[in-house]
Amino acid sequence: MARAVTVLGIETSCDETAAAVVRLEGSGAAVLGDVILGQAERHAPYQGVVPEIAARAHVEGLDGAIAAALAQAGIGLEDLDAVAATAGPGLIGGVMVGHVTGKAIALARGIPLIAVNHLEGHALSPRLAGPLAFPYLLLLASGGHCQFVAVLGLGNYRRLGSTIDDALGEAFDKTAKLLGLGFPGGPAVERLAARGDARRFDLPRPLAGREGCDFSFAGLKTAVLRAAEGLGALGDQDRADLCASFQAAALEVVMDRTRNAMAMFAPYWGAQGRLVVAGGVAANQALRGALEGLAAEAGYAFHAPPLRWCTDNAAMVALAGAERFRSGFTDSPERMFGAPARARWPLDQEAAILRPTHMAGRKGVKA
Ligand code: KG4
Ligand code: ZN
Repeated sequence: MARAVTVLGIETSCDETAAAVVRLEGSGAAVLGDVILGQAERHAPYQGVVPEIAARAHVEGLDGAIAAALAQAGIGLEDLDAVAATAGPGLIGGVMVGHVTGKAIALARGIPLIAVNHLEGHALSPRLAGPLAFPYLLLLASGGHCQFVAVLGLGNYRRLGSTIDDALGEAFDKTAKLLGLGFPGGPAVERLAARGDARRFDLPRPLAGREGCDFSFAGLKTAVLRAAEGLGALGDQDRADLCASFQAAALEVVMDRTRNAMAMFAPYWGAQGRLVVAGGVAANQALRGALEGLAAEAGYAFHAPPLRWCTDNAAMVALAGAERFRSGFTDSPERMFGAPARARWPLDQEAAILRPTHMAGRKGVKA
C-alpha cells in the first residue's frame, strides 16, 4: 500500500479564505483540519465579490486559518509532506496571496509546493467523501465555471461542453441581485423557489434540444429581468414565483444538457456510469435531486460532495495536491517556486485551444 502523505491545502481564489489538512492513505482521504473563513459580509454592500476587498481579506485571514487547520489536525508544519495551494484560475490578487504563502511555507520547510488548479480541486472533491473510481462524468457548476468534464484519471480531463456566456451560479447570483435578495444569491433563490409557482412565468430554456452539451444562461437571466420589470413593484409572492420559474428553467436546461453529456461520455464508460456534480451550485438540493433521478433512470451511480465541500474550500485543494504528490507529479524547484499565479488556467488545455468558449478580451475565467 502507498505510504500515507499529509498535505496542507490553501484556497484563496475567490471570496473564501481556506486552509485544510488532508491525509491520504491507501485509497482513503481523511480531512484532519478544515477551516473556511467566509467574507460575505464584506462584499454584501456591493452585491458581488470585490477583488481588492477579497485579496485584502485573504491577507488578513490566511495565517490564522492555516494555524487553526493545523491545530485541528493536531500537527505542526514539520509534520507536512507537502503544501498545496490554488495557483489559479481566479481573482489574481487573491490567488497570489495563497500561492505566495504556500511557496513561503514550502521553502521554509524544504518540502514541495504543489500548484493546484482550482477546477481540479472541484473535480476531485467528491473523492473526499468516500471511494469514487475514475472515470466519471462531472458537471462542475459554480459561480465562475459551468462545464462538463470527463474525469479520466488524475490530471486527465476532457472538457465535453462549457458555458458560452454566464456560469450557472452567476445566473443564480444575478437573479438574486435583480430581485434584491442579497449576496451570495444561490441559496436565497433556492429558498424562495421552494415556495413559488414555477409555472407562473414562461422563461426560455436556452440551448435545450440542441446537440452537444454547452450551456448559455445570459438569455434566461435577461428574461427574468424583463418579467420582473413587467410586474413593477414586486411582492413576496412575485419574487418567490420568479425564483421558482427561473430555477425550473435552469434545471430543465441542465437535465437536457446532462443527457447529451452522458451520451458523449458513454464510449469512455462502458456499461457502468458514474455521474458527479461539484462546485458551489451542487449545494442546490433541487439540482442534486433532479440529477440523482436522471442518473437512476439511466442506471448510473450518482455522487455529490457534502455541502461543505461543494462551495470553495481547501480540503479539495489539499486532496488534489496530495494525490499529485503521491503520484510523483512534482516540478523542479525552479518551476515549483518560479511559476506565477494564473488568472486563467483551463483544466483541459487542448479543448481551450481547439474549442475556445471565450475569445481574447472577453471576460471570464470559465473555460
Ligand atoms: O464553488 P463556489 O464557492 O465558487 C466558485 O468557484 O465560483 O460557488 C459559488 C456559487 C455562487 O454563484 C453561489 O450563488 C452558488 O455557488 N450557490 C448556489 C447554492 N449555493 C451556492 N446556487 C444555487 N443554489 C444553492 N443552494
Ligand atoms: Zn470554486
